[in-house]
Amino acid sequence: MQVGIPMESMAGETRVAATPESVKKLRAAGCSVVIESNAGLGAHFTNKAYQEAGAEIVDDAHALAADVVFKIHKPTPAEIRRMKRGAVLISLLDMCHDDGTFDMLAEQGVDSFALEMMPRLSRSQTMDVLSSQANIAGYRAVLEASRLYGRFFPMMMTSAGSAKPARVVVLGAGVAGLQAIATARRLGAQVWAYDVRPEVKEQIQSLGAKFIEFDLGESGSGQGGYARILSQDAQKKQQHLLQQELKKADIIISTALIPCMPAPILITEEAVREMPEGAVIIDLAAGNGGNCPLTEADKIIKKYGVIICGYTNYPALMPSDASNFFARNVYNFLKLMLDDNTVNPAFKDYFADEITSMTLITHNGKTRFETTHKAKKVKVG
Ligand SMILES: NC(=O)c1ccc[n+]([C@@H]2O[C@H](COP(=O)([O-])OP(=O)(O)OC[C@H]3O[C@@H](n4cnc5c(N)ncnc54)[C@H](O)[C@@H]3O)[C@@H](O)[C@H]2O)c1
Repeated sequence: MQVGIPMESMAGETRVAATPESVKKLRAAGCSVVIESNAGLGAHFTNKAYQEAGAEIVDDAHALAADVVFKIHKPTPAEIRRMKRGAVLISLLDMCHDDGTFDMLAEQGVDSFALEMMPRLSRSQTMDVLSSQANIAGYRAVLEASRLYGRFFPMMMTSAGSAKPARVVVLGAGVAGLQAIATARRLGAQVWAYDVRPEVKEQIQSLGAKFIEFDLGESGSGQGGYARILSQDAQKKQQHLLQQELKKADIIISTALIPCMPAPILITEEAVREMPEGAVIIDLAAGNGGNCPLTEADKIIKKYGVIICGYTNYPALMPSDASNFFARNVYNFLKLMLDDNTVNPAFKDYFADEITSMTLITHNGKTRFETTHKAKKVKVG
């Protein structure tokens, strides 16, 4: 079984879906590995390092023509056309935007697995790229805030006088938000955090942050650990109550999202206007419209004296570790799918395990999307 790793073609992407470490593991599992020349350079993995790990360096056509293709982002139509009938694709597939990719993959006869559809079970945690990459995003977002903020995070007492600690507010306490809280605390900031799911209160407090709590008159907890959409009235109330907290913030890291939905507006224009001059908003929801209506995707802007950062790909700013995590997740996923034959491995029945059956999007020339993932077929933006 040959595993192929093409270079990521999306603008600004520096990550790669396999590393020399994961290549070694794939070889030990009985797979041969072909990788496009310089596919790992953006993440500081050289062709030589891949060769030493047992991979063969090839061109893009050969990497895409492998039995199994690992990618970070969904393939372009040109890339899909170069994949072979019967190949297996393991990648993020951008499940919330149906732009024809799924039908094309089915027509090409590719069995594709969407990593974002990973069921959230304890045994799937080692394969969960959303969590591994969100963790990095939460960390990197705080570093970006500290770069843009013209002051200290910790309280500083020096012979030139003292500086007060930064007041950081984190909105949304999922994987990215909790890592942002932990990172801001490590840097010595005073941290407040808010989430619409009251059950995260203890996790927030255990990281040394204060929980912002108010009664919206309805619960924000939805199914499977995710938040649910609030009623119009509750959204208005939430925005109004949050405004009182946000106007005191030096830095806001906002991460609030509901899968496949436009990001909820938590930081209104009025709230931004009341924030201190030089305050920073890092809007991690920028790719889904933003938690602030002023946010512009992939830009840093200044409005009412407040710096608003709308970067949409923080993991690409930490490409080595982001690739390491992603590559381990993908390797673990493939390993789950293979039988125990380490000389000539074969795929087990995809439908015998809920992890593979729930992530399988195209199979035998058909898309399973309509039946198994209909709820995800929501247009965003
Ligand atoms: N394998 C596993 O078991 C596993 C893996 C990862 C996450 N999880 C759980 O899944 C849940 C979601 O985590 P995630 O990191 O994917 O979250 P996410 O990235 O989907 O969302 C970020 C956060 O935004 C919050 N949010 C949404 N709308 C909001 C609003 N209007 N106001 C304020 N906050 C709002 C959500 O509650 C969530 O905490 C968590 O409970 C997490 O512990 C489980």
